[in-house]
Amino acid sequence: MKRVRVRQHVNPLSKQHLVSIALPDWSAVYQNPKQPLHLDLGCARGRFILQMAKLHPEINFLGVEIRETLVKEALQSRNDLQLTNLHYLPGNINYSANELLFSLPVGVLGWITVQFPDPWFKNKHIKRRMLQRELIDSLVEYLSKDGIFFIQSDVLKVAIEMKHHLQENPYLRLLNQDWSASSPFAIATEREIGVLNKGELIYRATFQKQ
Ligand SMILES: C[S@@+](CC[C@H](N)C(=O)[O-])C[C@H]1O[C@@H](n2cnc3c(N)ncnc32)[C@H](O)[C@@H]1O
Repeated sequence: MKRVRVRQHVNPLSKQHLVSIALPDWSAVYQNPKQPLHLDLGCARGRFILQMAKLHPEINFLGVEIRETLVKEALQSRNDLQLTNLHYLPGNINYSANELLFSLPVGVLGWITVQFPDPWFKNKHIKRRMLQRELIDSLVEYLSKDGIFFIQSDVLKVAIEMKHHLQENPYLRLLNQDWSASSPFAIATEREIGVLNKGELIYRATFQKQ
């Protein structure tokens, strides 16, 4: 399938992105909607969860991505492979997290991943970064007991900020004090592969809900 070209960064605070995510009927999306769910935020072309879904048919995977053209491409790949445990939603997670989380079957959310979020280097753009405290509080409220919240970035400043925000949440426990040398998942994301190929450092942290 032809890869679509997209702009580098999308401003999640721009008016066009302050709209609710259209929520599906989960029983029409997944073959077994009551299976544990892995939520990947800012999934881009969704290759990470596509490979994960093939490896783990006993888990449902959901990617949320603000750039709709990428979601269309990801859904086409999902359909071509006829995977019934994988779905992608176009939308701004910072705007619609509560509605999305509330709509999910109760108690399914077992993993949350935020991997290489857009760094927004300038101080005046920090509010555009995905992992804000408010979003974390919503996500952690719906994360199952013992559920995993994993973050990674190649930008130290962004990784430190994400880790700091997650450490402030009283229900999360950091599993390793130092940055983790590897991801807990068998599949690398597209960005992760690119960074590893350049031999650059990745800062990773895994939290578990108490
Ligand atoms: C640098 S890419 C990383 C993609 C992928 N996670 C990886 O590791 O290869 C960050 C992605 O997050 C998406 N994104 C940024 N803000 C978002 C938001 N508020 N809601 C949903 N997706 C968002 C961007 O469009 C982009 O595709």
